[in-house]
Amino acid sequence: MDICIVGGHGKIAMHLHPVLVKNGHHVRGIIRKPEQAKDLQEAGAEPVICDIEQEDDISKAVGNADLVVFAAGAGPGSGAERKWTVDRDGAVKLIDAAKQNAIKRYIMISAMGLDKPRGNEVFRVYQKAKAEADEALRKSGLDYTIIKPGRLTDQHGTGKVSLAPHLDRGEIPREDVAHLLAEVIEEPEMSGLTFDLVSGNTPIEDAVRVALSLTG
Ligand SMILES: NC(=O)c1ccc[n+]([C@@H]2O[C@H](COP(=O)([O-])OP(=O)(O)OC[C@H]3O[C@@H](n4cnc5c(N)ncnc54)[C@H](OP(=O)(O)O)[C@@H]3O)[C@@H](O)[C@H]2O)c1
Repeated sequence: MDICIVGGHGKIAMHLHPVLVKNGHHVRGIIRKPEQAKDLQEAGAEPVICDIEQEDDISKAVGNADLVVFAAGAGPGSGAERKWTVDRDGAVKLIDAAKQNAIKRYIMISAMGLDKPRGNEVFRVYQKAKAEADEALRKSGLDYTIIKPGRLTDQHGTGKVSLAPHLDRGEIPREDVAHLLAEVIEEPEMSGLTFDLVSGNTPIEDAVRVALSLTG
């Protein structure tokens, strides 16, 4: 497949590129800082420069693809304003670009617990922005899969996760999220579904099958 990842230099994305390349896919990563291009090339991905906050229409950068992944985020150091412009509007611009370019599949890295917002004002805005992006995707008509990880860590992956429609809060290494996303990408039956994701006891290679069995 030809796969376009927005937020191509994100920590999850940088774990994901080599796995997808190993699985035989061609990967393009959208980044806004040209100096990050080399890192993507070393990970086997083709860098495309586009600032998703500056551009209203990102369809040219997204180009032709079989599937897109939204892996961008304003990040913990940003204020409330960029939660809207990156976490919500960036994701919506990718929906528009996918439609414009006749790309059917869209995988969203969302976050768990958005239905029960908590924390300080900026974190609440982040959760609202992510929830609105998810809602826009559900209504888009695209073949979406929304993956909602718990708190992300930079620890080494354990190779084991819990993937289910509703889970208690927890955390998960970014490396495990990337490997799980690679499994989701291989399974078109995940379309139209939303799952929570935390560390657990199911080997990542079995997690998609187990999760599908839970949805009936
Ligand atoms: N942190 C958590 O505990 C947690 C939990 C659940 C879900 N999530 C979500 O998981 C996703 C991925 O997480 P992560 O840790 O891999 O993210 P990350 O390392 O913070 O990466 C986000 C990427 O988005 C890029 N980006 C920001 N603004 C952009 C713009 N205007 N144009 C193009 N790219 C832009 C950043 O690039 P620059 O280097 O240019 O800034 C960065 O590479 C995020 O959506 C996050 O909200 C996080």
